[in-house]
Formats: sequence, C-alpha cells, structure tokens
Amino acid sequence: MKSPTNALLTAVVLPGAVLALQDGVGLKPHMGWSSWNVAQCDAASAKYALDTANKFVSLGLKDLGYEYINIDDCWSTKSRDSSGKLVPDPKKWPNGIKSVVDQIHGMGLKFGLYGCAGDKTCAGYPGSEGHEKSDVAQLASWDVDFWKYDNCYTPCQQSPRPQTCQNPTGNTTKFYAPMRDAIIAAKTTKKMHFNLCNWGRDQVWTWGAGYGHSWRMSVDNWGDWASVERIGSSAAGIHQYSAPGGFNDLDMLYLGSSKINENQGKLHFGLWAITKSPLVLGLDLNKISAATLTLVKNKGLIDINQDSLGKAATTFRPSGAAAPVSGKIYPYWAGPLSDGVVVGLCAGTAAGKYSVNFKDVPGLEGKTYAWKEMFTGQSGNGTSVSFDIALHDMRVVKVTTV
Ligand code: GAL
Repeated sequence: MKSPTNALLTAVVLPGAVLALQDGVGLKPHMGWSSWNVAQCDAASAKYALDTANKFVSLGLKDLGYEYINIDDCWSTKSRDSSGKLVPDPKKWPNGIKSVVDQIHGMGLKFGLYGCAGDKTCAGYPGSEGHEKSDVAQLASWDVDFWKYDNCYTPCQQSPRPQTCQNPTGNTTKFYAPMRDAIIAAKTTKKMHFNLCNWGRDQVWTWGAGYGHSWRMSVDNWGDWASVERIGSSAAGIHQYSAPGGFNDLDMLYLGSSKINENQGKLHFGLWAITKSPLVLGLDLNKISAATLTLVKNKGLIDINQDSLGKAATTFRPSGAAAPVSGKIYPYWAGPLSDGVVVGLCAGTAAGKYSVNFKDVPGLEGKTYAWKEMFTGQSGNGTSVSFDIALHDMRVVKVTTV
C-alpha cells in the first residue's frame, strides 16, 4: 500500500508545511489527558500531572495508547522573571517542571504545556508574544513534548486588548507564525507537538498543517450535549483536512460530565474516534466511573482512531435518506481504514432502527462483507447492517472483506 505520509508530502504545498510533515510528530491523532476541564487553574500542578501519569499506568490507559499528560493554563507565575523567562509557580511545581517531566518520561509517557499567542494567556498569565524563541528554548530545556497555543489577548483593533478579540488586527496565521518558526528553528534539539488553539478562526483547517500538528476547529467543548452536537456536526465538512501529521482537534473529551448522559458520552467518544480527533481525556482519573473507563478503553474504537491511514470519517447520504440538517448530527458516517471501512450510525436526533446497505457506503460495493460493531461486540457477514439505537447513542461498525 502507498505510504500515507508520502502521499501527503506530495499533496501539500503550504509554506511552512515542513514542521507538520517532516518531523515525524503527530502522524496519528494524539491521545492523552488535559488538566483544563478537571479543575481549570487548580489542576495545572505537579500533583495532578504525576497522579494522572500513575493512573494512566494503573488503569491500563497507557497500554492502550494514552500518552500525553498535558497541563493547561495557569502553570506559571503571573510575571516573567527579570531575564524574561517564564517561571513555574513554585506552589504548584515545588521541584520545578523538569523533574516532573523526567518522572513522566521514566514511565514511558509524554508531557505537555500550554501557552498563548497573545501577551497574556486566557486566564491572565504571561503570553508568549515577542518571547517565542526564548520560550521554546525554555520548553526544550525542560524536555516538553507538546505545546498547546491559545489565542487570547492577541493583537486587536480594540484597546486595551480584550481576552477574546472579535475584530483582530489581521488573520490569526500572523499570530501563530512566530511560534511555529521558533519551533522549526529549535527542532534539532527537541521535537514538539504544536497544537493550535485558535478556536477554528480563519478556517484554521485550511492552513493548520503548515503551522502545527493539530488545530482546534471550534470554540470549547462545554461538556454538554449542545457542544457535542455543535462540534461533531461541523467535523463532517472539514474531514478532508485531517491527515497524518495534521489533524482537526475537536477539543477534549468531556466524558463523565453531569451534563451528558451515558448514551451521549458514547456518541461523543465514538464520533471523535472515527473523525480522527485527538482523544484527550478531560476528567479527573481519580473519580472516573466504571462505565466511563470502559468507554475510553474501547480498543476497537481506539484502533480505528489510530489507524495508520489517518483519514477522517464524514457523512454520506444513503438512497432515500433525508438530507443533513446544519448543526445536527447526521445519522450516516463512513471513512476509509487501512484494512477496511468504518461506518458510524448516530441517533443524533431520534431513537429508531438505523440500517445501511453496504452498496450505499463510499468505498464499499454491493457484496458480502464481514462486519463488527465496536460498542456491542456484535459481528457477522452480510450485505447490510441494522441496529435499534436509543436517542443520542451510536454504533460503530468496522467492515472488512470476507
Ligand atoms: C481556552 C481554550 C481552552 C482552555 C482555556 C484556558 O481559550 O479553548 O481549551 O485552554 O482557554 O484558559
């Protein structure tokens, strides 16, 4: 089979594509955990990072590919030191960052930090604007593997700059280029996953591969069904931009939230998996329920997400099916895998019987295939599948040749 990476190298001719495509980072959607949804600023600490790393091992998450322990906003002090360096908050990082990174690396895991393209982070900590080279050098000296880069307090026509600017002075590519260039320049010393968090502005999916390894394609997942609907439905139209080296990031998995029920959680995880979103847990692993743990350890879904082809599923319209409705999750999804095709069936708006003839699925023909459903474990051979699906639940079927 043709190597997907090589295929992509010839297909993409964006200036700066060198970072995303030639450093071997982000060839699959990244998997891990982020502190933000756990306890916002309070979770940006050594204790949370190390506890989570231990949980990755003891809960068997590491063995399934969960790798990055990413600390979000609020890990530093509110000011830089006299030489312009970022200072880890000594209360949260009593032994500094590097000792934590070393321990996490010693466990076979990776460590990420958060910064911002503006002059402050969203929570008001020092941003990296004008400090890009020195901040990258500092990250490299700590051996940091992942850098999420936010879009608050960036250049704005309003003065003083607001946290979230509605009329920026220029396109956000301008705000992200200096950090991208600093990372490229430092690449010989440290390879780092660069995650663009500009909330989908300026159609980041069209240029993200030239700037980083993954890009947030929307504003935040607020942990409710409306967020899953809003983000999940809009992933369909931008599927073609995800490929090895650069993926649409649908935001953290807000599972175990009291705002979504068990079926909604299944659809959330299943849809993020087949659309090749990074799978980043946004919950406290000390409090994870048995049902959520079973969900995030679904090996069939993880294998589909991590498939080497790296092609995101999108919607298709079987003959006789109603047209998609903007903002609602369409029932029929499919995408190619290196060894078959994945079909997703979502009861996004109504419970009912959902059926698919394989001849209607892009990439399949009107013949007998082997299939396996990833939530129930059901399997069979045939020319179609059919499931009764409860409201907001999902079925994910892997279809292979017999
Ligand atoms: C938002 C970002 C969130 C989180 C938060 C921290 O802009 O989308 O994922 O990082 O800032 O302040």
